[in-house]
Amino acid sequence: MKYFIANWKANFTIGDATRWIDEFLSFDLSLLQNKEIIICAPYHVLSLLNQKVPSYVKLGAQTISEYDSGAFTGEITASMIHDLVSYSLIGHSERRNYFHEDEIILGKKCEYSFKYNIEPIYCVRNEKDIVPEHISFVAYEPIEAIGSGENQPIQEVLNMKQKLALMSSTKFIYGGSVNENNIHEYADSVEIDGLLIGGASLNPLHFYQIITTHTE
Ligand code: PGA
Repeated sequence: MKYFIANWKANFTIGDATRWIDEFLSFDLSLLQNKEIIICAPYHVLSLLNQKVPSYVKLGAQTISEYDSGAFTGEITASMIHDLVSYSLIGHSERRNYFHEDEIILGKKCEYSFKYNIEPIYCVRNEKDIVPEHISFVAYEPIEAIGSGENQPIQEVLNMKQKLALMSSTKFIYGGSVNENNIHEYADSVEIDGLLIGGASLNPLHFYQIITTHTE
């Protein structure tokens, strides 16, 4: 069973998200059975998506506050959205880079995710990024592959998996320029439990093709 995780990043108005999900749901949904589909959408469209997606499509946040709840102006906390999302990306390199999220902050984010039953999908750039305890999903995203069109060859991805020395129960996800043309390389490998898809997930047809070109 593979996980197909869309990361919409900072894109889409409510209208855009509505058009996206309506188009996605117009495709042959019977081909989505036995796939684990997660859409990590920006907060302002989560509620809309929640009303529209079938139960087998799960929602995720793209980050979560390192605080619990209360006087933290502007924050979206796990306690606020735990009834909307099942997952949250944590530690994406864009968060580490642009928002200076270090391992202490990322550890707090994981702590509150767990407290409110949101499963972290913990992103690492390489083996130097320490994975906190109790993480069940690790997404390896080499910086140079993100948004560049230069997806990392499968053998290099698998070499990094070895270096990360994850527990066998931990799901290993790859992300970085995955699209409908190179998906086979990853989807056909039993070593890879899922894909994290940014740019290509903004097009509902491409995301659908990525999910459905792979048959178990
Ligand atoms: P990309 O992004 O598919 O556009 O490379 C992946 C990610 O950053 O999660």
